Amino acid sequence: MRPIEIDHVAIAVRNLEEAVCYYRDALGANLEHREVIESDGVEEALLKVAESYIQLLTPTRPDSPVAKFLEKRGEGLHHIGWRVEDCDSALEELKASGAEVIDVHPRPGSRGTTVAFVHPKSSFGTLVELVQEGESH
Ligand code: CO
Repeated sequence: MRPIEIDHVAIAVRNLEEAVCYYRDALGANLEHREVIESDGVEEALLKVAESYIQLLTPTRPDSPVAKFLEKRGEGLHHIGWRVEDCDSALEELKASGAEVIDVHPRPGSRGTTVAFVHPKSSFGTLVELVQEGESH
């Protein structure tokens, strides 16, 4: 697969408002987008740095995967989003290389993207998300 860019670095936080203030005011990132993704049980804030984003994530309900992550590992790096031209073909290539995937098929992500997650087991401990701008080709 050929990544275009690091799309985002996702950080799990307990207090989204406080985290947004810090990343915006102290680190100078531009708040670009906020969204609740009900299906994933998360609320996100996207802050732009050059052509990439810092994605702050907080759970919207106690049984969401991000809630479980916070319980187990505390706040911090949750996953890295790799921007690709075509999520479907990137995912197929990864599967063919033996990577263990979480999403067998690409699915809709936030702000109209198409995404698929690859298991952290395959990538040395960090959850990987493939991100394609727009809907699936
Ligand atoms: Co993400």
